[in-house]
Amino acid sequence: MSERVAVVTGANKGIGFAIVKALCKRFEGVVYLTSRDETRGRTAVEELNKLDLQPRYHQLDITDVQSVSRFRDHIKRSHGGLDILINNAAVANCSDPYTTYEENKYIVDINYKSILILQDLLFPLIRDNGRIVNISSDCGHLSNIRNKKWIQRLSKKNLNVDDINEFVDWFLENCRNGTFKKEDFADEGTMAGYRVAKVALSAITMLQQREMEERNICVNSMHPGLVRTSMTNGVGFYSIDEAAETPVYLALDAPDTLKGAYVWYDKRVLDWYDSEADYFFKTSTLQVK
Ligand SMILES: NC(=O)c1ccc[n+]([C@@H]2O[C@H](COP(=O)([O-])OP(=O)(O)OC[C@H]3O[C@@H](n4cnc5c(N)ncnc54)[C@H](OP(=O)(O)O)[C@@H]3O)[C@@H](O)[C@H]2O)c1
Repeated sequence: MSERVAVVTGANKGIGFAIVKALCKRFEGVVYLTSRDETRGRTAVEELNKLDLQPRYHQLDITDVQSVSRFRDHIKRSHGGLDILINNAAVANCSDPYTTYEENKYIVDINYKSILILQDLLFPLIRDNGRIVNISSDCGHLSNIRNKKWIQRLSKKNLNVDDINEFVDWFLENCRNGTFKKEDFADEGTMAGYRVAKVALSAITMLQQREMEERNICVNSMHPGLVRTSMTNGVGFYSIDEAAETPVYLALDAPDTLKGAYVWYDKRVLDWYDSEADYFFKTSTLQVK
């Protein structure tokens, strides 16, 4: 039987780095630390080497089709496939809650559109009984959306990828032509691009589960809590090692009946469709020190 393989995106720092660290300690197989910037990635690997941990390294920019193709070819050639994929790489605009069209497009491209590239190029390599963990956010719960039309459309049983893409494009178009309305989102429309991208990511998780069902691959999305990383300028309730616990649980320990779920940092499975729930992100929590 071939060696098992786990891959973490955006792992040169923050929660992704801590996930690699935890997997190196527990996963029986090869763990890949990947990063868009090779120098930053290799420095992170050296840091783990000092702890006697031996992740492998490969460059991977999730928005760059060439980079993802090179990584796909490498995995295929070296291992024949992979078993665990943790989609962690992301950006947010925590310091600038109402940002420009260009910045929102950048956020949507990294946090959501990239998943479509990975789906095309990497998912076919995931072996039967594998696991995919999409690191979403509390910004990814449906209660972040206040526009009734979109709540209804994203909640429909036969949701498809066009519904999700049109939702994302509707938001970007509103930003571009100046018709963005704060009332369409929770928390006065702060960090709307990040909310849209993470809602789209949690929604597509359920479609991915449908696709992967036949091969008993579990696909879940999760919120890691408010974590002290550069994304939050160091603000948060949890360390990166604490935040890695639930993603690693989903990758290694969760029962394989847990599929297509939206999971909270304390491992609770939440009802993603409860649009009136109080799970949406409040920007005021970023003031907590
Ligand atoms: N921190 C929190 O409180 C919090 C809360 C909810 C959800 N999350 C989610 O948790 C995950 C990890 O966040 P974090 O707080 O650890 O953030 P972070 O410290 O800012 O790390 C983000 C990582 O993603 C990488 N990245 C960005 N764009 C990329 C691309 N195109 N290709 C490959 N890698 C890319 C970054 O690389 P560079 O170093 O090159 O920029 C970095 O390694 C994200 O999905 C985030 O949305 C975090």
